Amino acid sequence: MGKRFLISAIAVLTLSTAASAAGQYDLKDNMLKLNTYMKTMQAGFIEGDKQKALHAAEALGVESEKLLGNEEMMRNKLPKDKAHKARIASTSAHLIADNVEIIKTSMDNVRRDTAQNAYLDIQRACMRCHNLVRDW
Ligand code: HEC
Repeated sequence: MGKRFLISAIAVLTLSTAASAAGQYDLKDNMLKLNTYMKTMQAGFIEGDKQKALHAAEALGVESEKLLGNEEMMRNKLPKDKAHKARIASTSAHLIADNVEIIKTSMDNVRRDTAQNAYLDIQRACMRCHNLVRDW
C-alpha cells in the first residue's frame, strides 16, 4: 500500500467524520431552536400573552419548514440507520404548518381552546417523531 494512498485515505476518513459530526451538530442546533419556540409559545399560552404565543408560532412554522420540510436534507442529517425515516420529517412539517395556521386564525377569545389544542398537536408531532427515531 503506497504512502500516498494511505495519506489520502486518512484525509477522506477525517473529512467524512468531521462532516457527519457537523451534520449531527446542525440537526441538534436546529432542533434546539424549534424547542425554544415551543417553550416561548407555551409560556405565551400559559401567561395569556397572545402576541408572544403568536410570534413564537410563526417563527416555529418558518424554522420547521426549513428543517423538517426539506426531506433530502433530513435524510442526510439523520443517522444512517434512520435515514429512511426522513419522510416522517416532511409529514411532521405539514402537520406543524397546518397547526401554525390554526393558531394564527384562532387567536380570538372564542377560539382560544382551538389555538391551544393546535399547540398540543405540534407537541405530539415532536414526540411522535422522537419516539420513532430514538431507541428509547
Ligand atoms: C423528523 C423527526 C423529528 C421531528 C418531527 C422533530 N424532531 Fe427533534 N430530533 C430529531 C432527531 C433525529 C434528533 C437528534 C437525535 C436525537 O437526539 O435522538 C432530535 C433532537 C431534538 C432535540 C435535542 C435533544 C437533545 O438531545 O438535546 C430537541 C430539543 C428537539 N429535537 C426538539 C424538537 C421539537 C421541539 C420538535 C417539534 C417542534 C421536534 N424536535 C421535532 C427528530 C425530530
